[in-house]
Amino acid sequence: MPLELLKIHNGRNLIQYSLRPHPKFNIIYGSNGVGKTTILESIYLLLRSRTFRNNKFKTFINYNENTCTVFSRFSSLKENTLHASFSIGISRSKDKVQPVLHLNSNKINSLSSITNLVVLGLITPESFNLLDAGPSIRRKFIDWGVFHVEPFFLNDWRSFKKVLSSRNSILSKLSKKYRHYKKIGTDELELINCWNPQLLDLNNKLDVYRSNQVKQISHYFKKYLFLFSSTLSENISLSYSRGWTKELNFSQYLKDKIYEDLLAGYTRYGTHRCELKIALNNNLAKEILSRSQKKIVIICLILAQFRFLVDTDPTREHNVLLLDDIDSELDSKNLNILFTILSTLPCQTLATTTNKSRYDFMNEKECELFHVEHK
Ligand SMILES: Nc1ncnc2c1ncn2[C@@H]1O[C@H](COP(=O)(O)OP(=O)(O)OP(=O)(O)O)[C@@H](O)[C@H]1O
Ligand SMILES: [Mg+2]
Repeated sequence: MPLELLKIHNGRNLIQYSLRPHPKFNIIYGSNGVGKTTILESIYLLLRSRTFRNNKFKTFINYNENTCTVFSRFSSLKENTLHASFSIGISRSKDKVQPVLHLNSNKINSLSSITNLVVLGLITPESFNLLDAGPSIRRKFIDWGVFHVEPFFLNDWRSFKKVLSSRNSILSKLSKKYRHYKKIGTDELELINCWNPQLLDLNNKLDVYRSNQVKQISHYFKKYLFLFSSTLSENISLSYSRGWTKELNFSQYLKDKIYEDLLAGYTRYGTHRCELKIALNNNLAKEILSRSQKKIVIICLILAQFRFLVDTDPTREHNVLLLDDIDSELDSKNLNILFTILSTLPCQTLATTTNKSRYDFMNEKECELFHVEHK
């Protein structure tokens, strides 16, 4: 089931570091700046080939070195299962653009063989952006879930982007003329409309994928939120807004609003404008909630998607949850609730903290503590 060995060489300040995690809970503690987040970052690098900090892999390599390597071994409790036990290694030199990735002893070029092996969940202080930032980060969040369960999603999404950009480029070219003369020729209209059938088809497919994803995670979101606070759970709503007016189907929208699109110079509405709305009594949740309440909502959202992904393949053995600095903002009661929820999830958790005593409530049999120190 678990990640059983992690080795880091020249990852930020960690020149040689090795960890043998517990299959259930791991608390990585130490003072500021000792490398706790770097340990979680290394696991993320192995499974995603990029860092979660700034997306600049190069900055992960120790200042004074040219290359970094991260190695891991995942073990299985079952025998004879394809890929049940495996190792993943990643290395990167400062003078190379791409990292080199190995699954067992084979060099691999595509991440997909790894993403399918391990469900990875991540909550960091930056996860606040899921509530605070604009809609595109929430769209990415929905799409991440869809990507794992809809085999055609990536192709459909790429095609949609191409078709949308072709339609937009014509709208943008004709927009100036239309604004000046206030009319447009039928052959020019046809240049725009000829993209509509493809756009309609792809828009509707993505819309179904995305709305299903929100429906599927809503159940767990509410359930987890209720465990933290019944009042929050009653008052917070998670809803999917599809990106164009409720009154029109998309085909009607494309026909009726073409002159408005022409004025704007782009396709104003569609699934590219969809949004995951998190509201509290009809206000945006981010405008009302306290910092700790925001954190709880984000935890529930990420855990709900993690749980959904874990459930999609109950035979998969490897589910890893990384929690960076999770206890800040949470009081003891809420921290306890979080770990009670996690104990029901079939996953291995690695959490960082500067304050080990916050975890005194943990059952010693299920949890290993790791002290990281300045070298
Ligand atoms: N490329 C690099 N080379 C060497 N050291 C680096 C590099 N990048 C970052 N560092 C240093 O590595 C250390 C580890 O950072 P990290 O964020 O992992 O610490 P942390 O234990 O999580 O700290 P905090 O408690 O503040 O969250 C920091 O002291 C940082 O300044
Ligand atoms: Mg840190």
